[in-house]
Amino acid sequence: MADRYLHFTGTAPGRFLTRRLGLPRPAPLRRWSFGTPTLDGPLLLLTAGASALDGPLPDTGLETVASPARPAAVVLDATGVTTAAGLADVHAALHPVVRSIAPCGRVVVLGVRPSADDHHQAAAQQALEGFVRSLGKEIGGGRTANLVRLASPAPDTAASTLRFLLSPKSAYVSGQVIELTDAEPEFPADPDRPLAGRTALVTGAARGIGAAVAEVLVRDGAHVVCLDVPQAEAELARTADRLAATALPLDITAPDAADRIRAALPSGALDVLVHNAGITRDRRLANMPADQWSQVVTVNLAAVLDTTDALLAAGAVRRGGRIVATASIAGIAGNTGQTNYAASKAGVIGLVRSLAPRAAAAHGVTVNAVAPGFIETKMTAAVPLLIREAGRRMNSLAQGGLPVDVAEATVYLAHPASAPVNGQILRVCGQSLLGA
Ligand SMILES: NC(=O)c1ccc[n+]([C@@H]2O[C@H](COP(=O)([O-])OP(=O)(O)OC[C@H]3O[C@@H](n4cnc5c(N)ncnc54)[C@H](O)[C@@H]3O)[C@@H](O)[C@H]2O)c1
Repeated sequence: MADRYLHFTGTAPGRFLTRRLGLPRPAPLRRWSFGTPTLDGPLLLLTAGASALDGPLPDTGLETVASPARPAAVVLDATGVTTAAGLADVHAALHPVVRSIAPCGRVVVLGVRPSADDHHQAAAQQALEGFVRSLGKEIGGGRTANLVRLASPAPDTAASTLRFLLSPKSAYVSGQVIELTDAEPEFPADPDRPLAGRTALVTGAARGIGAAVAEVLVRDGAHVVCLDVPQAEAELARTADRLAATALPLDITAPDAADRIRAALPSGALDVLVHNAGITRDRRLANMPADQWSQVVTVNLAAVLDTTDALLAAGAVRRGGRIVATASIAGIAGNTGQTNYAASKAGVIGLVRSLAPRAAAAHGVTVNAVAPGFIETKMTAAVPLLIREAGRRMNSLAQGGLPVDVAEATVYLAHPASAPVNGQILRVCGQSLLGA
């Protein structure tokens, strides 16, 4: 279902009316394409206080300049801000430039994890979160603001995260905090095909977000196995053919699902496992039959737990592997009529947070989740009109995201250099007001 309001606000009468009536004015978002892979302008690098980093920032794909008139992106290194007084440096750095950032530009603040032993440092670093979330709400024009917390002074640990956040690939990610570990990133030989030689499996890949994830994985060089229910076999075959991927018609809740997945993998093992299959069966709890409750929990959560356990136990996820699950902002905020769905998606968040450090230690595998907000797919096209309009507008970018936005976030988490990104729940929601 096309967003007609977004189109209307781009016309002259639309601009006039929305300004006069004070209505949301979504800006068309700039997305990645082969022709225009980076933001349209240079990167302005600023520091608040003395940096705690032990070297220069990794290559972000953007030209770095000292004081451009119109930067497309600003990175503020606030790793050295350890006191309330030091926060004045954050204001001093960004206040003079915030108005000059180009449309669809980016602000990324670099911080460190708040300390458990130093409450002054913790206060100053936590302050950056409130700062970034507020800036995301006021900056407008398709611009985004995000915070990255480093666990080590090595700037390389932030390489893939900075590249993602400073590119059109993160168009629908704003107001977020990404916490890194000190794990060593792996840099691929060919930066344009970082997943070359790797095998990925995407569940629910016949259509919607899953098909977009498969497409971006293929773009980045992976061999992809697309899994979906046998009832969707024709659509699955079309998607797989289009992408030169392998189709695997299989219900992920089947008791032998993990074995059949392994049998379908070229060498019985994979590098990237994307748990995207999901269903809704919405009703208020008072009206919800037990079977609708359990269908949703079984597909969205139990199958994710079971296949993850079985594939890890069988050694079928290679070292350096990536598991990306699909949560939802409903699993963070809750939603009327979605007790079953929100429970299942909150369960996914619990799974990720608990398993991530253990999977990294035991298998060298990261475990993260994307948490989409309102994404334009068949699932959301079925939502009643008024609720759909509210879902689209109730975020800082005043529009729904596209499947490719979730796909780009997923593939960033799957990147070899994303080893330091572990246990994160990355919201792809345009900074939705829900659960904010
Ligand atoms: N669209 C949104 O706004 C949104 C928001 C938050 C989260 N999500 C999540 O993103 C994921 C994809 O959503 P979508 O909007 O693309 O949905 P969709 O309904 O368009 O696609 C889901 C796919 O999963 C498949 N599937 C369902 N049950 C399966 C099973 N048992 N085994 C294998 N495949 C199965 C379906 O056949 C379908 O092709 C889901 O997990 C969903 O909960 C979507």
